[in-house]
Amino acid sequence: MTFSVKPIAADRLPELLRRMPKAELHMHIEGSLEPELIFALASRNGVAIPYASVEELRSAYAFTNLQSFLDIYYAGASVLITEQDFYDMAQAYLRKAAADNVVHTEMFFDPQTHTARGVSMETVVKGLHRACVDAQAELGVSASLILCFLRHLSEEDAFETLEQALPFRDLILGIGLDSGEVGNPPEKFARVFARCRELGFHLVAHAGEEGPPEYVWTALDVLKVERVDHGVRSSRDPLLMQRLAQDRIALTVCPLSNLKLCVFPDLASHNLRELLDAGLAATVNSDDPAYFGGYMNENFTQTFAATGMDARHAYMLARNSFEASFIDAPAKARYVDRLNESFERFS
Ligand code: HPA
Ligand code: ZN
Repeated sequence: MTFSVKPIAADRLPELLRRMPKAELHMHIEGSLEPELIFALASRNGVAIPYASVEELRSAYAFTNLQSFLDIYYAGASVLITEQDFYDMAQAYLRKAAADNVVHTEMFFDPQTHTARGVSMETVVKGLHRACVDAQAELGVSASLILCFLRHLSEEDAFETLEQALPFRDLILGIGLDSGEVGNPPEKFARVFARCRELGFHLVAHAGEEGPPEYVWTALDVLKVERVDHGVRSSRDPLLMQRLAQDRIALTVCPLSNLKLCVFPDLASHNLRELLDAGLAATVNSDDPAYFGGYMNENFTQTFAATGMDARHAYMLARNSFEASFIDAPAKARYVDRLNESFERFS
């Protein structure tokens, strides 16, 4: 990293964090559904939801672990029926991302949550893709899609989902793996990931969120992922830390998610700073911002306030977000130039 970062007074750090251009590499588009939009879509589609009001729904967002969140998250996604619903959801997220100076995003979507309810892959992908195209034109945000398999379902189900997605191959940048981690190790999906690799998809997987470091090893060595989503439990395994640092495998860390799902007791105990200081390519992301209390800039400002990270950490995190993205080398270089300019101008 050749760019030299000037020290910045602590009281100006939040402004720097908000203003710097950044990429978001770990967010589930269904996790951007705000309670207001859930109610609007439920009413538009005549779908019943078991909450009387927006306030009552929001007050149910008190999670104790990943599964307690997933139960509510899948229920919320049941209001999505038409292509326009998927468009509206993604447009709302992309506007919030643009306001946080996110200039590039690679968004996860969970098609099995929708196809299991009779919503077609075409409806899902076309609605989301149209929002990505419009975001470039209207907001200057480049956005693309990563299809995630649900790991609590079978590998056979994942193969079927892949088949349904192939007609839209050109609209899908990569493949990921999400949902309940413990008891569903990466190797359960070895064959389907091997097929996705042959097909030329980029590969990522959630690992080491609630699951052990062994799941991070098998995500790397069996699934052959290029980035690890979360990965925070890697710090329990010094050899794994070495491997991640040496190979510059990015971890897409989500501090407010980890706080809300009780992966860490408080933000001051979060290990993001430790990961960065150990030379890992960590990034900051919002995961499911409507459920976890904040979009990108809230993740940055709250985590920096709690951990005492400084402008050098801010630069590393933003730079890592571009380096770890799946855009081509010239586009990466252009984003890094923009990042450097924003740090130079900030004084
Ligand atoms: N972990 C696993 N699955 C998910 C998550 C997460 O943080 N968010 C949405 N699906
Ligand atoms: Zn996630």
